[in-house]
Amino acid sequence: MWQVAVLILSLSSLVYGAPQVPCYFIFGDSLYDNGNNNAFMTKAKANYPPYGIDFPTGPVGRFTNGRNTADILAELLEFETYIPPFANARGQAILKGVNYASGAAGIRGETGQHLGARISFNKQLINHQITLSRIQIITAINQSAAVNISKCLYTVGFGNNDYINNYFSPFYLTRRIYTPEQYATVLIQQYSLQLKSLYNSKARKIAVFGIGAIGCTPAMITIYGTNGSLCVDFINSAVQLFNAKLVSLVDDFNNNLSNAKFIYINSYQIALTLTPTTGLSVTNVPCCNATNTILFQCTPNRIPCPNRNDYVFWDAVHPTEAMDVVTTRRAYTALLPQDTRPSDIQTLAAS
Ligand SMILES: *[C@@H]1O[C@H](CO)[C@@H](O)[C@H](O)[C@H]1NC(C)=O
Ligand SMILES: *[C@@H]1O[C@H](CO)[C@@H](O)[C@H](O)[C@H]1NC(C)=O
Ligand SMILES: *[C@@H]1O[C@H](CO)[C@@H](O)[C@H](O)[C@H]1NC(C)=O
Ligand SMILES: *[C@@H]1O[C@H](CO)[C@@H](O)[C@H](O)[C@H]1NC(C)=O
Ligand SMILES: *[C@@H]1O[C@H](CO)[C@@H](O)[C@H](O)[C@H]1NC(C)=O
Repeated sequence: MWQVAVLILSLSSLVYGAPQVPCYFIFGDSLYDNGNNNAFMTKAKANYPPYGIDFPTGPVGRFTNGRNTADILAELLEFETYIPPFANARGQAILKGVNYASGAAGIRGETGQHLGARISFNKQLINHQITLSRIQIITAINQSAAVNISKCLYTVGFGNNDYINNYFSPFYLTRRIYTPEQYATVLIQQYSLQLKSLYNSKARKIAVFGIGAIGCTPAMITIYGTNGSLCVDFINSAVQLFNAKLVSLVDDFNNNLSNAKFIYINSYQIALTLTPTTGLSVTNVPCCNATNTILFQCTPNRIPCPNRNDYVFWDAVHPTEAMDVVTTRRAYTALLPQDTRPSDIQTLAAS
């Protein structure tokens, strides 16, 4: 009840006053993508019905029925509009931030390649350099438009595809080369360099989302089976190795880099500690018809379930808007102490 009341209050306060940070930049995968893949040759795009069935402008490229985490966070931070995708962000709008996220993208360059084009984290970092030089041009012409990007919020969410669309996919060699422990280590080494380069381009408030409980997705359950468990335990074990190393990396950055404020969002635990008040009672089957075992997305033009607020999963890998609201709210204002570390996004934004 408390959670619901707070949510309604903050959503209705959208549109009034200045946002809590001057700008918000988004790096990540399909959990955050809001249209960057639409023009690409790729199966990893969501600009067709029934995607966006609950979004005001319909299927514009979000991989869910309504708003995604980046949208909900922009609302909680009191931005007047959602952050535009890099693909069509132009002019003064970029001063409030840009969304670089791309479905099927990963920490590793090859991740997701069997689905087609996507923008890996390295390429998203290059796109951010393009944005920074565009901002320089705008502010050189108009001094009053200048923003201090060290005060902006950055969210980064990768790794899900490095497991679903790489390590645990038959199209890649990584599982033959690395043990789960070794794979987590090489991913974190690469992630460390990428996050450091974001810091080097003056990002100071960086929230990193850990990998979710992807062994509990309908896709992984269908492909691997659960062996009597609720989820695919060996997949969850593998991603927990990664998440544990990511927590240490965030702690290291906070200790080693001057003025760095990194936080870790424990998406894994948030998904596994849903309270009954969320109403998310259907946890293991998708709302839309998602029977394609390579793509895991909704079959085009099929009518999805009517009670979308009861479902955790929209398609075979992506959460519903209702689930995104729960995750994002707990990332913004931690519900349990382990939800975020060392602070939540609200505290980071205000710092
Ligand atoms: C200069 O920037 C300010 C602040 O963003 C804006 O309100 C104004 O319209 C800009 N002026 C021009 C000429 O673009
Ligand atoms: C930008 O913000 C950071 C963090 O608040 C601050 O340390 C820095 O001095 C500011 N830079 C400018 C040019 O105002
Ligand atoms: C299934 O579970 C049993 C009992 O816990 C275990 O011995 C076996 O190794 C598991 N099989 C697989 C494929 O995970
Ligand atoms: C942080 O510093 C410690 C101690 O010097 C070092 O062992 C560690 O590798 C550093 N971590 C990062 C991410 O820079
Ligand atoms: C989903 O679509 C497939 C392919 O068109 C069809 O065979 C199947 O019966 C549908 N499943 C459900 C649960 O509607």
